[in-house]
Amino acid sequence: MTEIILHEPLDMHLHLRDGAMLRTVAPLSAHSFSGALIMPNLVPPVTDAESLRAYRQRIREAIGNEVFEPYMTLFFKPEYDLDFLAPIAEELTAVKLYPAGITTNSEGGVRGFDIEELRPALGVLSELGIPLCIHGETGGFVMDREKEFVPIYEALADAFPDLTIIMEHITDAESIAALDRHPNLYATITLHHLLITLDEVAGGMLQPHLFCKPIAKRPEDREALLNAALNAHPKVMFGSDSAPHPRHAKEAPGCAAGVFTAPIALPVLAELFSRHGMPENLQHFVSNNARQIYGLNPPKKKVRLIDTPMRVPEKYGEVVPMFAGEEIGWSIDAVSVE
Ligand code: NCD
Ligand code: ZN
Repeated sequence: MTEIILHEPLDMHLHLRDGAMLRTVAPLSAHSFSGALIMPNLVPPVTDAESLRAYRQRIREAIGNEVFEPYMTLFFKPEYDLDFLAPIAEELTAVKLYPAGITTNSEGGVRGFDIEELRPALGVLSELGIPLCIHGETGGFVMDREKEFVPIYEALADAFPDLTIIMEHITDAESIAALDRHPNLYATITLHHLLITLDEVAGGMLQPHLFCKPIAKRPEDREALLNAALNAHPKVMFGSDSAPHPRHAKEAPGCAAGVFTAPIALPVLAELFSRHGMPENLQHFVSNNARQIYGLNPPKKKVRLIDTPMRVPEKYGEVVPMFAGEEIGWSIDAVSVE
């Protein structure tokens, strides 16, 4: 039997939703991860201290006794200023910026990306040392949206050299290349973008449960992402972007974007890193890099993964996970907290 032991795994991009969905999905992440960066795209989004604190409290209630730190984020607004952010800076791990309408629940995001207009708010984030996470897609042709956003990332990185900028859920080779040109650019990579290309989504019969934003790209893009993750590129972190939607919202005309991977993420990553002969680098990808980049000190948790197959449930509550009903090669053997 082969095993991989992980310490303090972190998911640096996670959608937990709210209400019944929160109560279904939060325990699944909290069981095997030490912490996660919680996305603020609720309806309405998390934009003030009160809603941030209340949401954190609802997450804590949903996870019960699990040892798990929800690292909270605020939904970026250009009007954020020092008076608003300074008093709550300690309660935040990052601010998340969405271009308006680019993805699920992002209507209140930034319109017409003008750096000058954003300068005061971004200056404050930089001054307070709050990282800025960005959903980097333009409104262009769907396969080119992320590539077209790279010059915007680069302009931001140059204009705010002291601001930590995280390129969220990157999906193409151009984004990886940009990491090496700017000391203050970092990135998260999902599980599904390490595994699939547009072929798996739409090359055969349409697979709604693999449809997400950004859309999966070309084989060479997946190669570049895999290469960075497997080789423990110090500027990339695991962020699942696990984004649950009820089955009726996925298996429908106007399918909602998002892939639900949280419960299977660690075993599938273990299988992937093991298959590529890089098992020792998974610890960097799922924990160490994030701790370094964000300066986190997550609660202690040890996860033992083994190459014993498991069958993925057809559904968790109302949500269909990636690999639903299929067998995956690895499973979680034990989780211990110290
Ligand atoms: C996410 C969601 O459903 O909230 N969807 C997705 O396809 N990834 C939003 C996001 O991160 O883009
Ligand atoms: Zn997301």
